[in-house]
Amino acid sequence: MILLGTVSEMHGFAEDRRREGRRIAVVPTMGALHEGHLTLIRRAKEQADVVIVTLFVNPTQFGRGEDFERYPRNRDRDQELAAQAGADVLFAPAAQTMYPDGYHTFVSVESITAVLEGAVRPGHFRGVATIVTKLLNCTKPHVAVFGQKDAQQAAVIRRLVSDLNFDVEIVVVPTVRESDGLAMSSRNSYLTPADRAQAPVLFRALREAERRVLEGGRDAVTIRGTMEVMIRTETSAAIDYLSIADAATLQEQTTLQSGREILISLAARFGSTRLIDNVQVVVP
Ligand code: PAF
Repeated sequence: MILLGTVSEMHGFAEDRRREGRRIAVVPTMGALHEGHLTLIRRAKEQADVVIVTLFVNPTQFGRGEDFERYPRNRDRDQELAAQAGADVLFAPAAQTMYPDGYHTFVSVESITAVLEGAVRPGHFRGVATIVTKLLNCTKPHVAVFGQKDAQQAAVIRRLVSDLNFDVEIVVVPTVRESDGLAMSSRNSYLTPADRAQAPVLFRALREAERRVLEGGRDAVTIRGTMEVMIRTETSAAIDYLSIADAATLQEQTTLQSGREILISLAARFGSTRLIDNVQVVVP
């Protein structure tokens, strides 16, 4: 595997591969790779001749008081895991490379960033849209692969790519879970043993909501209430939001309509560890 750190190196590599007629996939990550990321890399390998994994803990998508400083960093381990999963290049730029002194340009996707994660984490998606734009420009991919666990991020990136006419295909891969259902996340490593034991209730609550919808439940308010009771009864977590929204617009729903694809999502905090998860379902 090749390790690249500068934009000119990355541009040169991508241009050479394109000139050879090779198809390039990129998997943007912030490192602390786990099985979820490795699944994205393997999927990228099926889609392209060359797989670039980017590793950059992006400061602009973290709010004040969030976990930017303590976000787990271990480049050697990430490099080894990415190579084992089939990556050809690790692009790991320094903060100064991506945001040199005098940096002043940001990308802002409107409307769908005002709700859910965007409402709780103001500025988060501006940071994500900016760094994803920069990483796409650096790596010149034909396809970019993201995880469904960050469902709103995937929707924001699809919007960004469509609105700004990027010539790149976006592939979104289903969430990889631990055996007890907890969605894999780099932040799971922050959980205390007691919180780790409680955390799988998040997915159980989502599955219960999904089951109710599939069995004919149409009252989103009641279904959200069921999820809330499950989480409050079985955990000490603080709920940031529980949402049943249109999967495309992310507009919150009250009565579910047949044929509509909905995103059932949540965010909850176990101490200072914030977890998100979701399921997507077509209302029968
Ligand atoms: O999903 C992530 O890990 C990050 O938000 C991303 C897409 C790599 C941008 O920093």
